[in-house]
Amino acid sequence: MEKTYTRRSFLKRFLSLSFGSILAASGGYAYAKYVEPKRLDIVRKTISASNLPASFDGINVLQFSDTHLGLSYHLPQLQNLVEKMNALRPDIVLFTGDLIDIPNEYPYTNKVAPILKQIQAPLGKYSIYGNHDHGGYGTELYKEIMHQADFKLLTNEVHKIELVDQTFIHICGLDDVMLGKPEYSKTLNQLQHNVFSIAMVHEPDVAVKVANYEVDLQLSGHSHGGQIQIPFYGPLITPPFGTVYSEGSYEVGQSNMQLYVNRGLGTTRLPFRFLATPEVTIFTLRKA
Ligand SMILES: [Fe+2]
Repeated sequence: MEKTYTRRSFLKRFLSLSFGSILAASGGYAYAKYVEPKRLDIVRKTISASNLPASFDGINVLQFSDTHLGLSYHLPQLQNLVEKMNALRPDIVLFTGDLIDIPNEYPYTNKVAPILKQIQAPLGKYSIYGNHDHGGYGTELYKEIMHQADFKLLTNEVHKIELVDQTFIHICGLDDVMLGKPEYSKTLNQLQHNVFSIAMVHEPDVAVKVANYEVDLQLSGHSHGGQIQIPFYGPLITPPFGTVYSEGSYEVGQSNMQLYVNRGLGTTRLPFRFLATPEVTIFTLRKA
C-alpha cells in the first residue's frame, strides 16, 4: 500500500515537474517569438570629447540598426518606430546597416523609402551598408532606397557636419566588412586628431583596426546582442565579426576609442529575441 502510494506520488511529482518545464519552455518560446521582438528600449548615452566644438555640446545623435525587414520585422512596426524616433527629436540620425533581411525575396521594397523619408533630422541622415544589404543582390536596391529616403549612404566616405558658426565634426562610413570592400586607410586617414569624428561600421569587431586611426566614436550593429541570450552564459550565437564586442559600450585600443554596439531591431535566421531587446540609441554629445 505504502509502495503504491510512493510510486503514485513520484509519478505525480514527475508529471507536474515535466508539465512545469513544458509550460516554462513554451512560455519562453512564446515570449521570445511574440513579446520581446516587439519591445523597444530607448538607450541614452553621453559621449564626452575634448575635441568637440562647444557649439555641438548637447547635440543628439540617434542610431538605429539591423531592421532586417521581412523575417519578424514588418512595415507597420517600422512606421511605428519612425514616429517614436521623431518624438525623440534627434539632430542627426544614423542607420548602421541590414535594412532588409533578404532583399531579393522581399515583396514590399517600394514601401520602405516613403517610411524612412519621414525621419526628421535637421543636421542630416546617414547610413552604411551591412552584410544583408549587399547580400540577396541588394547593393543597388539599398542605395536607391536610402537615396529616396534622404539618407546619405557613406561607402568609404567622410562628410562634414557643419553648424552655422562654421564649426564642424566628421561623420564617416566604411563599406561592409563581410560582403563589401571597406577601405580603412583611404577613408580613415582623412580624419584629424583635433576634429571630433564618428565612424559607422556595420561589424563591431573591426574596432581593433579602426582604433588605429583618429576615430573618436565607432558605431556598429550586426551582433543583435546575440539575439538569444542564456542567463549566466551570454549570447547563444554571435555572427562573424560580432563575437568580441556583442553589445553596449567599450573602449578599444591604446587611443581608448569609444565603441558602441547597438542590438538592432529585427531578427535574422531565427525569428526570436531573448534578453536582447530591440534598441534605439540616443547619444548626447558633450564638450569635455
Ligand atoms: Fe544584422
